Amino acid sequence: MLVIVKETYDDMSKEAAKVVADRLRKKPNLVLGLATGSTPLGLYKELIRMHKEEGLDFSKVTTFNLDEYIGLPPSHDQSYHCFMHENLFKHINIDARFVHVPHGMADDIDAFCVWYEEEMKKAGGIDLQILGIGANGHIAFNEPGSSLGSRTRIKTLTKKTIDDNARFFAKKEEVPRFAITMGIGTIMDAKEVILLASKASKAEAVKAAVEGPITAMVPASMLQMHRKAIVIVDKDAGSKLGAEFENYG
Ligand code: GLP
Repeated sequence: MLVIVKETYDDMSKEAAKVVADRLRKKPNLVLGLATGSTPLGLYKELIRMHKEEGLDFSKVTTFNLDEYIGLPPSHDQSYHCFMHENLFKHINIDARFVHVPHGMADDIDAFCVWYEEEMKKAGGIDLQILGIGANGHIAFNEPGSSLGSRTRIKTLTKKTIDDNARFFAKKEEVPRFAITMGIGTIMDAKEVILLASKASKAEAVKAAVEGPITAMVPASMLQMHRKAIVIVDKDAGSKLGAEFENYG
């Protein structure tokens, strides 16, 4: 695990964009795993800038998003479909045929999850997966207690996640209670992962993920077992990391 602590959110985002751009230049048909949430917004902004100003080319890229709320149509402004379109896809030259976001309105969710895993396999597997982290240590919607070997499936959201995500909805009651999410096993299959975290509210989760024991109660801690994981955090999110990590970055 490579841990990089940057001074600001902008620095964190630019560092992550540098890694993504490097992998994309080396492999134009990169298979990219994408995350939602407020944390990767700066990364997406920087990738858009690189596309517009430096010609960073996404035309051959395939993407798979980590998760989606169950019950929200793609047109809903809080769906992850909508989020990805507004914050990344519509600004770059990505081919819509190569974009995959879980379908929260699928008639048969279990069959959809099997299909999603198959599509990832057919694409050759995810080369680089972007991840955020929940304040309770979740990755994608793998809440504490999720099986460390889990695959794409339905998960019930915890009260903490519902409370944290309520800020995006008019009323807390509108936050969906269930989601489709890649499993921890699915995420671990990515050839490389980047975990991003910003703000003091994530400091405990980052510490537990990086320095704590590997436990299903902190799903992100499983990344300690990943062969190529980069953790990029801003100073506030990295503020609880032990003194022995002072040289990071
Ligand atoms: C949601 C998403 C996660 C994301 C987390 C943190 O629960 N499913 O993928 O990492 O929120 O979001 P934020 O970056 O807004 O703190």
